[in-house]
Amino acid sequence: MAEEVPNHGVILKRYVTRFPSEDDMEVVACTARLAVPAGSAAVVVKNLYVSCDPYMRTCMTKHEEPNYLPDFVPGEVLMSNGVSRVVTSGHPDFKAGDLLWGPTGWEEYTLITNTDIHFKINHPEMPLSYYTGMPGLTAYAGFFDVARPKKGECVFVSAASGAVGQIVGQLAKLTGCYVVGSAGSDEKVSLLKTKFGFDGAFNYKKEHDLNAALKRFFPDGIDIYFDNVGGAMLDAVLINMRMHGRIAACGHISQYNLEVPEGVHNLFSLVTKRVRMEGFMVLDYHSKYRMFEEEIVGYLKEGKICYVEDVVDGLEKAPAALIGLFTGRNVGKQLVNLLKTKFGFYEAFNYKKEKDLNATLKRYFPEGIDIYFENVGGAMLDAVLLNMRLRGRIPVCGMISQYNKEQTEGTRNLFCLIAKRLRMEGFIVMDHFGEYRQFEEEMVRYLKEGKINYVEDVADGLEKAPAALIALFTGANVGKKVVAVSRE
Ligand SMILES: NC(=O)c1ccc[n+]([C@@H]2O[C@H](COP(=O)([O-])OP(=O)(O)OC[C@H]3O[C@@H](n4cnc5c(N)ncnc54)[C@H](OP(=O)(O)O)[C@@H]3O)[C@@H](O)[C@H]2O)c1
Repeated sequence: MAEEVPNHGVILKRYVTRFPSEDDMEVVACTARLAVPAGSAAVVVKNLYVSCDPYMRTCMTKHEEPNYLPDFVPGEVLMSNGVSRVVTSGHPDFKAGDLLWGPTGWEEYTLITNTDIHFKINHPEMPLSYYTGMPGLTAYAGFFDVARPKKGECVFVSAASGAVGQIVGQLAKLTGCYVVGSAGSDEKVSLLKTKFGFDGAFNYKKEHDLNAALKRFFPDGIDIYFDNVGGAMLDAVLINMRMHGRIAACGHISQYNLEVPEGVHNLFSLVTKRVRMEGFMVLDYHSKYRMFEEEIVGYLKEGKICYVEDVVDGLEKAPAALIGLFTGRNVGKQLVNLLKTKFGFYEAFNYKKEKDLNATLKRYFPEGIDIYFENVGGAMLDAVLLNMRLRGRIPVCGMISQYNKEQTEGTRNLFCLIAKRLRMEGFIVMDHFGEYRQFEEEMVRYLKEGKINYVEDVADGLEKAPAALIALFTGANVGKKVVAVSRE
């Protein structure tokens, strides 16, 4: 394995005092060492997803007094939770290939020296992006531990369509509560009612009088307020709380870009209504993570909870995605996908680095493969056969791994065709030339719409043609290999 590889990261250019802009961040090229320091328990990871979180804004400001999280440092990469694959490990519990979630850098490769709050992913059958960690646990801890709901209570959630809010609302419904959410667009309001099952929802940007809006939905008052925004909404909620109500203070996103926070005027309601308002930090709940995970994975599998994400592809889109949190551009949890780059594959692996192809395929397809587009044959085909699902299909396009062998490797697992009723069918493109015009129309449209990408690897000059052809068998080409004979 190469000791050093090219790396890209998003750095903070300067400290921010007001509303952040994309220009406060920059994508820079650098290199990453893949080795961990000798004798250390560090890991080097390849990042797959990084999370955009509102708290990151507070880390962009220089604090004279220590903040609850360390400030970012200009010139260094931003940090947040992410999902990563271990490349090299000195840690006894993590090995190369393992999937982890926890704090990581906004870059392709990160050396993580402190793995105290990193978790190995136990349910890779769930979308990996769900493991950017905090929002679900934040909702779970804040709702059950801080707000302590009872069946039949009235619950209000602000920033309700966001990463945390959407889960809080669904947990409230599962507990038998009446739940209403606020969000900043009609599209989000509709999502709350149709997708997440909120009993009611309103667009706070369209309400001139938040107090009146809350009275409309809670004529008898609010038992639980899950506060994601602070500011004017908190003030309006305070006068609508019921006796012995609880306010789980989760975040104050409406205040993060103000130099001086707005004053909240109705705190005396805490006294008159014996309301408990309690702040909490998800960091304090990491010990409960495994318990939370089992319960939530169960709900997700049973379809009792759903989760909406807003994923952008590529680190270069990360600054805009982060800023979008503060304008409400995101719908659901905002993530940056570092893997799904050019071709949009959900996952990918380097077959040369995998010792056991059967185990590799099981990792990516725990429930089996429906369609295998066969290009290589040999050991990969044998491993795939073991992992096909009942009635799966294998269009056999080519078997490049065998073309240079005097005697082909034998395929051993063909009995799977019978046991699993598989169809494996060879084809030659020449037999389909009759469909060319139809294919061309469709493909040109996809290419124009940017729905399909095509990568070519062009060698210039006929003298490079022999090497170009040989490259196909060593894997030196990236995409379609062509030789440019003459450029007009
Ligand atoms: N205590 C903890 O441990 C903890 C952990 C995670 C998150 N949090 C906090 O929880 C809150 C929600 O976080 P999240 O991850 O779920 O974020 P998110 O909802 O995914 O994204 C932020 C959303 O907040 C809303 N928003 C932005 N500016 C606003 C404003 N000025 N007034 C009202 N709403 C505004 C926007 O939606 P709209 O279109 O609806 O305006 C935006 O989409 C944040 O305050 C965050 O800091 C706390």
